Amino acid sequence: MTRSTKKFPAWAFGALIFFLFVLLAGCATLQTNFAPPPTLVNQYGTPVPPLPTLDAAQVARGKQIYQTTCARCHGENGVGAPNWKIPDANLNYPPPPHNDTGHTWHHSDRVLYEAIRDGLRDPLKPNSELRMPAFGNTLNDADINALLTYFKSLWTNEHREFQYLRTTEDVPPTTTPAP
Ligand code: HEC
Repeated sequence: MTRSTKKFPAWAFGALIFFLFVLLAGCATLQTNFAPPPTLVNQYGTPVPPLPTLDAAQVARGKQIYQTTCARCHGENGVGAPNWKIPDANLNYPPPPHNDTGHTWHHSDRVLYEAIRDGLRDPLKPNSELRMPAFGNTLNDADINALLTYFKSLWTNEHREFQYLRTTEDVPPTTTPAP
């Protein structure tokens, strides 16, 4: 029995691998070009519309309100009070930043809206005085929403998306402040 000793030349083998590689890369590109945009799905498995774009006029309005009303505590451009990570003797924290370095983006629109309208106190001392003043009497609904839009303009896309998903999982703000 004779066996062919002719070998497949190495260069041809190399060319074949190269060809397959180009073919695969081509398929991958086609797939990314034609695949529908990824759908956002929140923690409840509910698909939600894409991240909304921010209205530049709302950002500007929010920034203006911020600089005149909030910056004295939270710092210019939302950088936070100096040493905002260090609690005082009562274990209360100084005003945190609202830019990407803080934790404002961890909370849904409802939580932020109600914090601005109703103020914040030490959660462990329900009858203690407000640590963050309530602005419900001086800012209206549109003002508070403009502030939220301004904050969103300070976050990376990734953090914006995180905060947007938390908002889609939450309920709308209460219509009146808690008693
Ligand atoms: C008198 C100082 C002061 C002013 C003025 C002030 N804040 Fe605050 N704010 C605080 C303090 C202090 C906290 C932290 C409260 C806590 O954690 O106990 C806070 C917390 C917050 C939080 C919660 C952030 C988080 O991640 O938990 C938001 C939102 C907020 N402020 C928005 C505003 C906005 C918007 C304005 C202006 C309309 C404003 N603040 C004006 C002192 C202030």
